Amino acid sequence: MFNGTNIIAGLEIGTTKICVVIGELKADGSMNIRGLGQAPSNGVRKGEFINPKEVAEDVRAALAQAEKMADVEIRSLYVGVTGGHIRCFNNRGIHHVYSADREITQEDVEDVIQNAKAVNLPFDNSILHSIRQHFIVDGEDGVTDPVGMHAAQLQVNLHVIHGKTNRLQNVMRLVQTTSLQVDDVVFNGLASSLALLTAEQKDLGALVIDMGGGTTEYAVYSEGVIRHSGVLAVGGDHITNDLAYGLKISLSRAEKLKKAHGSALVNEEIGDQTISVTDELGLEIKRVKAGHVHLIMSARIEEVFKIIAEEVEKAGLMNLLRAGTVLGGGCTHMPGIVKLAEKVFQMDVVIGRVQNTGGLVEALEEPEFATAIGLVRYGAIYQRKPVAQPGWWSRFTEFIKKLMSLVR
Ligand SMILES: Nc1ncnc2c1ncn2[C@@H]1O[C@H](COP(=O)(O)OP(=O)(O)O)[C@@H](O)[C@H]1O
Ligand SMILES: [Mg+2]
Repeated sequence: MFNGTNIIAGLEIGTTKICVVIGELKADGSMNIRGLGQAPSNGVRKGEFINPKEVAEDVRAALAQAEKMADVEIRSLYVGVTGGHIRCFNNRGIHHVYSADREITQEDVEDVIQNAKAVNLPFDNSILHSIRQHFIVDGEDGVTDPVGMHAAQLQVNLHVIHGKTNRLQNVMRLVQTTSLQVDDVVFNGLASSLALLTAEQKDLGALVIDMGGGTTEYAVYSEGVIRHSGVLAVGGDHITNDLAYGLKISLSRAEKLKKAHGSALVNEEIGDQTISVTDELGLEIKRVKAGHVHLIMSARIEEVFKIIAEEVEKAGLMNLLRAGTVLGGGCTHMPGIVKLAEKVFQMDVVIGRVQNTGGLVEALEEPEFATAIGLVRYGAIYQRKPVAQPGWWSRFTEFIKKLMSLVR
């Protein structure tokens, strides 16, 4: 049992479930999911911790399950973060190339990125991600690697995602109380997009929406790069709340009713049919009209989609989404959600499937695990440690070779 450098773990602390996924990055670059563990989430509301002790216990339970399944011991993991405090913007950095021949070097690239990162955030915010979009070389846009090009001015566009420092620190502190190290904190919406989108969809332009219990995260791509992202502190739990309030039933019955008879679309043909609401023993408490249930549900989901559509429109990206919208998260189990999204966004919508990843089918096929799998994929893309360290013998022979070449 070991946590070799090719083992990567992701932890999503959701409002509904706490989930750990363990992946193995193979030497050929492919990803294999080896372990999945989950525990119902008892201490989180709208993505915020209301009972950290309970959250830590749930993390331990999910981790133990995943470790057992993967037969590895995890010491560090990539942790997803979300919440209404997370914001994004795009920023441009400018740098003048001073060398005599005006050839752009790696140092110029690092300088321009530093320049773009120097942003004025609200005092209590920290940068979560600053993701490179494109370079602009003497006004020529869309350059992906400017090193070696000749120019007087180099610019770069970055997508910056930031959040409240104390909320981000709370996540790190909580994970550390479980004796685990945090490899990195990652925005859940970014993680979901890494799991659900193909490179082609990113090129064509796509919107990813992950609708969970207390939050809905989204991310927009076009021309291969992330352009916009955000979080709404609204999710499936609000639909349950609306049903409980509107039908005068308890939250637990509303949740059961939503899952068993819910629909995101109002179907006039069955609108007058009645659904029986039962207690724990299966005895009928009351009967409600299907049309009423579906109307309450569709109103809330439509509202969430409309807010996202407005945001995407405001960012000027709506017409660039040629690959359409991809849905993830537990709410995608709801019948009719794809049709409703198509109506609001006026484009093709599909339920996302995890891309380019093998292993546990039960993890890959359920849309609610996309975030945790995406965290593992983030680790594979951004981890700084090499996949396999050369052993001491090959390092020693390398050293001798270098010495010999100096002597010769
Ligand atoms: N069959 C279903 N119909 C409607 N909603 C569902 C269904 N299955 C799960 N959900 C909802 O999905 C949400 C949980 O999604 P998930 O992505 O696991 O959440 P989180 O990441 O916030 O923990 C809950 O609100 C749950 O009621
Ligand atoms: Mg989630």
